[in-house]
Amino acid sequence: MTETLKTAPVLVVDYGAQYAQLIARRVREANIYSEVVPYETPVAEMLARKPAAIILSGGPSSVYAEDAPELDPALLEAGVPVFGMCYGFQSMVRALGGTVERTGLREYGSTQARIADRESTLFNGQPEAQSVWMSHGDSVSEAPAGMRVTATTSGAPVAAFEDDERRLYGVQWHPEVMHSTFGQPVLENFLRRGAGLTPDWTPDNVIDEQVALIRETVGEDRVLCALSGGVDSSVAAALVQRAVGEQLTCVFVDHGLLREGEAEQVQREFVAATGVNLVVVDAQDRFLGELAGVTDPEQKRKIIGREFIRVFEQAARDVVGDGDDRGHPVKWLVQGTLYPDVVESGGGSGAANIKSHHNVGGLPEDLQFKLIEPLRALFKDEVRQVGRELGVPDAIVDRQPFPGPGLGIRIIGEVTEDNLAILRRADAIAREELTAAGLDKDIWQCPVVLLADVRSVGVQGDGRTYGHPVVLRPVSSEDAMTADWTRVPYDVLSRISTRITNEVEEVNRVTLDVTSKPPGTIEWE
Ligand code: XMP
Repeated sequence: MTETLKTAPVLVVDYGAQYAQLIARRVREANIYSEVVPYETPVAEMLARKPAAIILSGGPSSVYAEDAPELDPALLEAGVPVFGMCYGFQSMVRALGGTVERTGLREYGSTQARIADRESTLFNGQPEAQSVWMSHGDSVSEAPAGMRVTATTSGAPVAAFEDDERRLYGVQWHPEVMHSTFGQPVLENFLRRGAGLTPDWTPDNVIDEQVALIRETVGEDRVLCALSGGVDSSVAAALVQRAVGEQLTCVFVDHGLLREGEAEQVQREFVAATGVNLVVVDAQDRFLGELAGVTDPEQKRKIIGREFIRVFEQAARDVVGDGDDRGHPVKWLVQGTLYPDVVESGGGSGAANIKSHHNVGGLPEDLQFKLIEPLRALFKDEVRQVGRELGVPDAIVDRQPFPGPGLGIRIIGEVTEDNLAILRRADAIAREELTAAGLDKDIWQCPVVLLADVRSVGVQGDGRTYGHPVVLRPVSSEDAMTADWTRVPYDVLSRISTRITNEVEEVNRVTLDVTSKPPGTIEWE
């Protein structure tokens, strides 16, 4: 079960530099399925995927760099429509016999492009002057034979070209970024007019395809899923439940490090909405016992990971035993692996090598499960859409990313029942106010961190206090690899601060983390 989807994809050839995933998302936003492949992939292998079209991404390199990735001209001769962007554009020029020069005219950032033909395939229906986002040192000085130049900028005499006959297109800029004001229309013009594709793909298509695939793969076997309460495992479980119903058993290890209301949501609302078989293991005391006296973040992660495996293994053995009795072994384990993990571990096929960091404890080794990863073709926002379609409650579908070790790594100091209770209340207030202010869409996640090891002087009523600070860490991000701190309006911050200091007795100071990532990580530990 390592394939992504059967749908013929628009393949985005990844020249590195993190643009490729964004391009694939933009194509999917245009309702056309898309996947990323590394540029080293042989052309024959790419064509074997029967791509609906090919997009060559930007990259960090100059085509003059010694190790600059080259484009095999065979890819341009296969009759598949191709669209090159930035580095991809220049690599097309090289492969087709045009000229890329070190003109000394570099362009970085926003530039005005002049469209030479407003009825062309790419620019149909668009204004003559448009802002585009550039990032190039070399420029194309001469378009390859047969290419019509359809846009220019001051630093790029050939900023776009088109050849409707061979269905080859390119722009020097980055249409995938928001700063290119007509970026999405340019991309959609390529997909619909250039490549002739019909925009009929939505993430919901995954449901029928995966349900059929899971049924076929699993047969009569039984399936296990470790439910964390997060979006990914919940939606994966709901999808597998739709496919094989009673054959699925979900195990929810309550390690006591969840936020207010989350364990209940899993145990009641999720079960009610999806009808999954759920085994809840209340292991709060065990985790707290093991964490007693521990303040080192890595140590905490190790303990939580280790205990999680132990508890899950035991629960799994109970279920496996049950399975054996009935003659249908438990062979399968559901994982909520997403597409970015698949891409980062090397492409669309082969077992996903999920970052251990993002996975509580990894898999129990001796249980020898085979993986079912029904979400491995999807980005996070698409998983949410599928979750909604499957009837997973909004409170779970809209949940912010939450680390496996939970509140354990948001308490700077010892993880005790008291500290957890303090943090839970502060966190619930922050979430409530951010939601009430309509900011959930702008915020990727907002950890609230309790500085349990720190005390500061305050005054409340008639007396001095000696309480703990909490830190608000609202961040905006597309993928958590990089992030910026969210500019939450002052009045919302003020309400959160007032409520936390009024309602959570032990907290007498609320601070705001204004660090981007890098250099700061999102979590404090
Ligand atoms: P950082 O703190 O590395 O976080 O900027 C990036 C994203 O990963 C989440 N995160 C974790 N998730 N186990 C997890 O399952 C962990 O140990 C862990 N540490 C960080 C974090 O919440 C953010 O979304």
